[in-house]
Amino acid sequence: MTETLWRVDSADTTLLLTARNTTDVPSIVWFGDLLPENACKDSAMIAALTDLPLPMAKLDASVSLSLFPQRSSGIDCMPALKGHFDGRFFDHHLYRDSVELDDQEVRIVLKDTAAQLEVILQLALHRTTGVLSITTTLINHADSTYNVDWLASASMPLPGSYRECLHLHGRWGLEFQQQRTVISPGTLMLHSHRGRTSHERYPGVMVGAAGFNENTGDVMAANLAWSGSHASTIELLSDGRLCYQSGVSLDPGECRLESGESLQTPVCYFKRHTCGGLNQVSHALHQTMRAEILPAWTRTERPVHANSWEALYFNHDIDTLKSLIDAAAEVGAERFILDDGWFVARRSDNAGLGDWVVDSNIYPDGLHPVVEHVRSRGMQFGLWFEPEMINPDSDLYRDHPDWVLHLKPHATPLARNQLVLNLDLPQVFDYLYQHIAALVREYRIDYIKWDHNRDLIMAGDGVRSRLMQQTRACYCLMQKLTTEFTELEIESCSSGGARADWGVLSYTGRVWTSDSIDAIDRVQIQRGYSYFNPPEIMGAHVGHAEAHLTGREINIHTRAIVALQGQYGYEIDARKLDDDEKQTLLGYVSFYKANRSWLSSSRTWRLDSAVDNLVCSGLVSEDQCISWWFSVAQASLSQTVAGNMVLCGLNPAVDYQVRLASSNLHQLRTFSKKVPDWLTSGAVVNGAVLMTIGLSLPVMPAQSALLIEVKC
Ligand code: DGJ
Repeated sequence: MTETLWRVDSADTTLLLTARNTTDVPSIVWFGDLLPENACKDSAMIAALTDLPLPMAKLDASVSLSLFPQRSSGIDCMPALKGHFDGRFFDHHLYRDSVELDDQEVRIVLKDTAAQLEVILQLALHRTTGVLSITTTLINHADSTYNVDWLASASMPLPGSYRECLHLHGRWGLEFQQQRTVISPGTLMLHSHRGRTSHERYPGVMVGAAGFNENTGDVMAANLAWSGSHASTIELLSDGRLCYQSGVSLDPGECRLESGESLQTPVCYFKRHTCGGLNQVSHALHQTMRAEILPAWTRTERPVHANSWEALYFNHDIDTLKSLIDAAAEVGAERFILDDGWFVARRSDNAGLGDWVVDSNIYPDGLHPVVEHVRSRGMQFGLWFEPEMINPDSDLYRDHPDWVLHLKPHATPLARNQLVLNLDLPQVFDYLYQHIAALVREYRIDYIKWDHNRDLIMAGDGVRSRLMQQTRACYCLMQKLTTEFTELEIESCSSGGARADWGVLSYTGRVWTSDSIDAIDRVQIQRGYSYFNPPEIMGAHVGHAEAHLTGREINIHTRAIVALQGQYGYEIDARKLDDDEKQTLLGYVSFYKANRSWLSSSRTWRLDSAVDNLVCSGLVSEDQCISWWFSVAQASLSQTVAGNMVLCGLNPAVDYQVRLASSNLHQLRTFSKKVPDWLTSGAVVNGAVLMTIGLSLPVMPAQSALLIEVKC
């Protein structure tokens, strides 16, 4: 028996692969904390340690859980590839052809010479963060067509002690809700079959040993970078082994590889921390995302947005807009975004999508007067588009009804009165590119809010599904626009946060996290989002006193404090603010502007809370010199006082100035006979003390919030 070992190290992580003989597909023996340099050189010792016992009533030889599980090996889990040549080779047998190790990367080539299929697994370990990326390519070398039903981006064996999964579910207006699920025998499946990332299931999980928390426990993140249909599974096998798989969810017959064709999957990312809990895993993900995925402009100081949607909806007129722009500038906005409603026939959501021409009834001189007004107030200009969509009541649809995704002979159900364009058709792609590019050029648009407001149903070219191609074409369109307009920034919006994955975030650099601007709902929405994404790419606005989606009345401090957790902005009719409210917002906006330079490299620390309804978190600068701490009472607390907030991530050797940065002390005082002294006078406290004893919080009534600054 020939044992072979391959090892890759990052600053804090070791990836160790092994195979039992010359043709076996490699398996992961270890993915986790960095192992001592000489610890695993003895392949015979590793072989002995990983030698599997043979239970009764199973195969006569043990089967490894490899990086590419195949049914032909006898393994009892979902195969990494499902497909066939018109029914033939429904079970393939890919053996190891080669393994190349180059610096941080491993390239594994597998071949089935009978079926004439080749698979390439590419693994790369990020040198500083220890985040592992895996992508898989399938090549059909046969003469006939190979039908692919499933090709996993990655198959990852999970440590045997893992029994709990934290995943994000939701709905429109309430995305990224955290759900803990016990891993039990069988399969946990999380999927979206509707052509977008979805409100319902984010394509990433945090999985670990039971009881993991924000700061403790063995946790691994898995995160698929894909904005279309997706599926992830966690299988607990009868022998106790656990397998995670993730990939594009394909429609039947959607993916057919002709002779010589190949299919490369989107990347799946993994990070494990064996004791540091969720925060440490998030830090590595955020750092990797900043270094490898996000556009460079996300590393610049993020401007304060003002968005027209909730102030105007479809009721556009130039004078109203000008007064709204003036009012937005008065509360410190730096970029004004004209949302839905500016193009032909778009007086409601019934009509107009697809006709990307400025409505001359409302804007007889085009958008120029508006854009000039925005610029005269020192702001940048952003414009809303929903490129993939079309209303049947539009000139585009009347001229090209065949341009929509559909399945003959059935009618496609409408959603928000709209259908979806088939972006994979060159004429559709060109039409969209030309129209969007012309507007970007004419108005020197700084920013596009790229919306996508419906699920894809029966998304075919008339006969075959085009789901996967649709997502790829959307990426190409974004890429083409940002290649021509190098300064252009794009935000990903999909009825709020239904397209917030790492696939789209390679081309965009901000997510409209939710259509709910209810600060109380936002607390959990934003916390859920933060597991995978850093704060500077989280659109967070101060909304109206009475939240439009929920009708909840929330005071101005809580609204502003919650918006400061992300890229601060406004979605409010600022003309209606009284002087007091304006002054309050000006205080928060200047605080944001004074600090934003460190926010885009900050670390997020979510704190565990023993008090029901109390949600605490912090953002700490990279040099640990400055940090913000948020405490929000989502509803009435389960106890009279909120207790101490114990901070994280500070320098234990440094003395910090601690002060209440939010201007709501007068409100908080009314709820207790006395507030803790440090709140009124500030304090100088050592970092180690803040991270052990912590800070006593005041009595916090329902819907109150605090922002604390801790600074060297
Ligand atoms: C859905 C978005 O999430 C909203 O912010 C807004 O842009 C509307 N679409 C406009 O139709």
